[in-house]
Amino acid sequence: MTTIHEASSQADPESPAGSSLRLVREDDLPGLEVLDKEVFDDLAYSMHYLRTFFNLFSSTWYVADCGGELAGYALVGPSSDKSGAWLLGLAVSSGHQGRGLGSELMTKAMEVFAEADVPYAYITVRPDNAAAEHLYQKFGFRQFGEEHENYYGNGERRKVLQRSLVADPYVGG
Ligand SMILES: CC(C)(COP(=O)(O)OP(=O)(O)OC[C@H]1O[C@@H](n2cnc3c(N)ncnc32)[C@H](O)[C@@H]1OP(=O)(O)O)[C@@H](O)C(=O)NCCC(=O)NCCS
Repeated sequence: MTTIHEASSQADPESPAGSSLRLVREDDLPGLEVLDKEVFDDLAYSMHYLRTFFNLFSSTWYVADCGGELAGYALVGPSSDKSGAWLLGLAVSSGHQGRGLGSELMTKAMEVFAEADVPYAYITVRPDNAAAEHLYQKFGFRQFGEEHENYYGNGERRKVLQRSLVADPYVGG
């Protein structure tokens, strides 16, 4: 049986963004640090976090490789008690946005959620991030609970979004 990991290490000639999705590698970490800084500025993950995520989640972390350039990534972190899995990061570099790559990465994240054998998928999003929230709603995510004033302790507001993978299993497409 071909797993999604094997299948996705191959280039996708149909990709609207001209990139291929593959599993993250250790030598991607410096490029991911640059990408995250460009996209998230002072909220970017430091190398400390990126290394830790690599140690924990390298089999559920996909990057978009555009001819050797890192154009984006989707990082899923299943919880250790299997109660859920979190989208810990989704980003497309500014030069590649608006061409379908975010949707491609989100499709891959959904496949990873489905394979993780967990009942729920979760995402946090800034309430003013209309592009990201629109994308997540297209994939069936809905607000879960009240908006948080200070979710990460840095004074920024966040919504938690949830999608059931049991009541509404992801079947692709
Ligand atoms: C969110 C993000 C990943 C989307 O990536 P992208 O490659 O531009 O997305 P796509 O081209 O696949 O477009 C996805 C959808 O979002 C919509 N969209 C894109 N930019 C938008 C904007 N500024 N406002 C509203 N909708 C927007 C697109 O129209 C598309 O919807 P449609 O399929 O209904 O037409 C990208 O904008 C990004 O990296 N943003 C900065 C980092 C970030 O906010 N990450 C999410 C943190 S929770």
